[in-house]
Amino acid sequence: MTGPAPADGGQQAPPPAPNRPTAVPEGSEQPVAVPEAPAAVLEIRGLTVGFDVPAGRLPAVAGVDLTLRRGEILALVGESGSGKSALAMSLVGLNRGPRTHIGGEVAFGGRNLAELSERELRGIRGKDIAVVFQDSLAALNPLHRVGAQVTEMMRAHRRMPYATAMDRAVELFGEVGIASPRANARALPHQLSGGMRQRVMIAMGLANDPAVLIADEPTTALDVTIQAQVLAVLRRARHDHGTAVLLITHDLGVVAEVADRVAVMYAGRIVEQGTRDEVLRAPQHPYTIGLLGSVPPIDGPVADRLPAIPGAPLTGVDRPAGCAFAARCALARDACAERPALRRRHGGPGHLDACVLPGPVRESARAGQDLVHTEKGRS
Ligand SMILES: Nc1ncnc2c1ncn2[C@@H]1O[C@H](COP(=O)(O)OP(=O)(O)OP(=O)(O)O)[C@@H](O)[C@H]1O
Ligand SMILES: [Mg+2]
Repeated sequence: MTGPAPADGGQQAPPPAPNRPTAVPEGSEQPVAVPEAPAAVLEIRGLTVGFDVPAGRLPAVAGVDLTLRRGEILALVGESGSGKSALAMSLVGLNRGPRTHIGGEVAFGGRNLAELSERELRGIRGKDIAVVFQDSLAALNPLHRVGAQVTEMMRAHRRMPYATAMDRAVELFGEVGIASPRANARALPHQLSGGMRQRVMIAMGLANDPAVLIADEPTTALDVTIQAQVLAVLRRARHDHGTAVLLITHDLGVVAEVADRVAVMYAGRIVEQGTRDEVLRAPQHPYTIGLLGSVPPIDGPVADRLPAIPGAPLTGVDRPAGCAFAARCALARDACAERPALRRRHGGPGHLDACVLPGPVRESARAGQDLVHTEKGRS
């Protein structure tokens, strides 16, 4: 058994733009994301991830619906601790364990990944769904040469002579910007810089032309030039192979550069999603407005790129019945005591948010960032 129809080897035209106009009439309420977009590759429905901790069960992911479409780059953003990695890892069972409780559905190729055995998932990971995490040292085998590791990743999933696979690995190394790719393919992980190792991981992720690439902060450790190179590689993968990319990042500059759509996560839930332009230019949820308002000037130091919305994200096991952001939101009102559904309220058919505030209030929040407590204030 395999996942959905594999990449087509270039026979088809590139996937249509994910955010093209749709047949949904203006003004109609639309509870789900853009219809008639490219085929859904991965559909997450009601996903929950709970971790047993001394205080109880931590709802790291508290009911997420999210669709990833062929050939799109979907950015998942949110402050530290919002549940992005827990979500990403649970999709392919990487955080399973006696203290982890995963519920809901992850539909991929006609199967629910949340119900597959570890053995079945191993046949999918690295082949149909590749995962790249930030910690490349932990992910690579310290005793094997990096070229051989990428080669083995290919040969583990398809019949291929070693030399052919190695040639492809070297080619991939070149594509992700590794200098002297053939020589560096012979290096052991510790002989490479962190940035080089990270690019090895990305090459490994793309080695089998996966239908889905889950990339958790893949460029955070890289300098700007290399980062641009890696983002170009992701773009090419989605164009050439229709790879759908779930890109987790703190860096809104990266989002602006490569994302087709953006989902914003807070306290285990998606609070807003839409096309990149919808979310970045006309953010609806006060949390998104705060995140965008807290981006420092573009030439600021990297360490300062972390969002700085006053107050701390929710990290405890107890969560409010209503909007999780209300405690930090200067605009919160009585109505926020009830949890708002994620649905279309303002803007395009695929622009969803989970905030009950009326349009004009959000408008004023956008105009004056101080309304959402950002330290930056008006600019
Ligand atoms: N294995 C675990 N056991 C217990 N709690 C966990 C575990 N993994 C994550 N958590 C908790 O779940 C919540 C979500 O964590 P997660 O790592 O998904 O956040 P994140 O959005 O990826 O943050 P960051 O941007 O810092 O990577 C946090 O409160 C975190 O402390
Ligand atoms: Mg994370």
